[in-house]
Amino acid sequence: MGPWSQNDSKKWIESEPQSVKVYIETYGCQMNEYDSEIIRAILDEADLESTDAPEEADVVLINTCAVREHAALRVINRIHEIRRLPNGAKLRLGVVGCMATGLKKELGGNRRLPVDFFAGPDSYRLLPGLIAAPVPERKNRFALELSDFETYAEIYPRRQGGVNAWIAVMRGCNNFCSYCIVPFARGRERSRSPRSVTDEVRRLTGEGYCQVTLLGQNVNSYRYEQHDFASLLREVSRVKGIKRVRFTSPHPKDFPMHLVEVMAEEPGICKHLHLPVQAGSDRILKLMRRTYTRQDYLGLVERIRTAIPGIGLTTDIIVGFPGETSAEFDDTYALLREVEFDAAYIFQYSERPGTLAARKYADDVSGEEKSRRSVLLNALQNGISLKKKSARIGGTERVLVEKSGTRKSQLESQGHTDDNHLVILQEGRYAVGELVDVHIHDATAHVLKGRPAE
Ligand code: SAH
Ligand code: SF4
Ligand code: F3S
Repeated sequence: MGPWSQNDSKKWIESEPQSVKVYIETYGCQMNEYDSEIIRAILDEADLESTDAPEEADVVLINTCAVREHAALRVINRIHEIRRLPNGAKLRLGVVGCMATGLKKELGGNRRLPVDFFAGPDSYRLLPGLIAAPVPERKNRFALELSDFETYAEIYPRRQGGVNAWIAVMRGCNNFCSYCIVPFARGRERSRSPRSVTDEVRRLTGEGYCQVTLLGQNVNSYRYEQHDFASLLREVSRVKGIKRVRFTSPHPKDFPMHLVEVMAEEPGICKHLHLPVQAGSDRILKLMRRTYTRQDYLGLVERIRTAIPGIGLTTDIIVGFPGETSAEFDDTYALLREVEFDAAYIFQYSERPGTLAARKYADDVSGEEKSRRSVLLNALQNGISLKKKSARIGGTERVLVEKSGTRKSQLESQGHTDDNHLVILQEGRYAVGELVDVHIHDATAHVLKGRPAE
C-alpha cells in the first residue's frame, strides 16, 4: 500500500499532535491568493494552526490553478514532491481550488494520485471536517459541489499584511469563452452585497491597508439588487483612509461608459485597466465566444482614452487558438502595435478538457508555431513597453510604497504608480503605505527606476 493507506492514516489519527499545523501552497491568479486567505480564516476558526514550512506540516493544502495544462502538471509534480518529504507519508494532503474537479476525472477508477481529499472553490467551509474526518470516511473524499450563492461574504480573510488587500466581490463566470476552464472550475456568477464589501474595506483601513483590489473573474458583471459595478466602485473609493482602489479583470463586452465616468471622476480609483483582448482577428474572436469584434474593442479603447487621458492599459493574448492562420495572427500583431498597451501577457493556447474548443476544434497549431508567435508578440510588446517607460525618464511620478528595503540588506524599496507601473526606489528611505513623489532616472521594459524628487 502507498504512503496514504488506511492503516497509516489511522496511526496518524491516534498520534494526533496537540496542535495541527497546516501549510497552504497557492498557484494561479489573485482570486486563488484571496481564497487561500479565506481558507486560513476558516482553519483559524477551527483552531488549526498555520505554518510556512511544509516539512513541519501535519496537513498540506495545495490551492490549484487549471487554466493551462502546464499549471496542472506542476501541481501533479508538487503532490509527489510533498509525499517525498520526511513527513510526507503521514501528512494529510488536500487538493483544493480550480483543479479539484478536473483531477477527480483524471483519477478515474484507479487512484493514481496520493491525495486524501479534494475540495472545490465553493467547499472551503467543509475543510476542517475533511481534515479531521475519521478513517475510513476520510479516504479520498471529494467536496466538489459548486454553489450558486457561496461568496464567503461574512468571512474576514486572514491576510498576510502589507499595503494591498484583495476582496472578491463576485465569484464564478457565465461567459464560457470557448477555450476557458474557469466557468467549469468555479461555477456561476454571484455577487456579494455592497454593504458587506464596504464594511470590510472600513475594517481594512483600521488595520493599515491603504489599497484594495476588487476581484472577480468578470468583475464588471457584478450585480446586487440595483447596484452595479460602477456604483460599488464609487462607494469603495469613498471609504475614508483608502488611498487607492484597483480592480481586475473586466470583460470588454460589458464595459459601460458610466463605469468609465466613475473612474474618471473618483481620484481614489487608479487609472489603470487590465482589459483582456485575447485576439485581433474577428473570426478567432467569434470562435473564442468573446462576443465583441476587433472594432468594438478598438472603439472602447478610444472612448476610455478620451475620457481618461494617460490611463494605463494592459491585456491578455492567446496565440495559436485552433485554426488560427498566419494572417489571423498578423491581425493580433497589428492590434498590439496599434493600441500600444503598457504591458501584455501572451499565452499559448492550451486545450482544456470539457471546454467547447476542446470538444469542437482540433488543437492544430503546432507547439513550435505557437512558440514562434508568442516570441514575436513578446518582442513587439517589449519594444513598446520600453519606449513608453523611457518616455517617463526625467519626469516625476507619485508612487505608493509597497516594500521598504534598507541599504544594509541591499534590498530596494518598491511601489507602483497610479497607472500600475512598477517603480524600483533607489536611495532614500521610504515607509510602507506612504505616497511619495519620485524622480524617474532610468527605465527597462518592465520597471521604472526612481529617486526621491527634490
Ligand atoms: N477572467 C479573466 C481571465 C482569467 S484567465 C478574464 O476573462 O479576463 C487569465 C488569462 O488566461 C485569460 O485572459 C486568457 O488570456 C488566458 N487563458 C485562459 N484559458 C486559456 C487557455 N485554455 N489557453 C491559454 N490561455 C488561456
Ligand atoms: Fe474565462 Fe472568459 Fe470567464 Fe474570463 S470571461 S474567466 S476568459 S470564460
Ligand atoms: Fe487559475 Fe482558477 Fe485563477 S484556473 S487563473 S486559479 S480562477
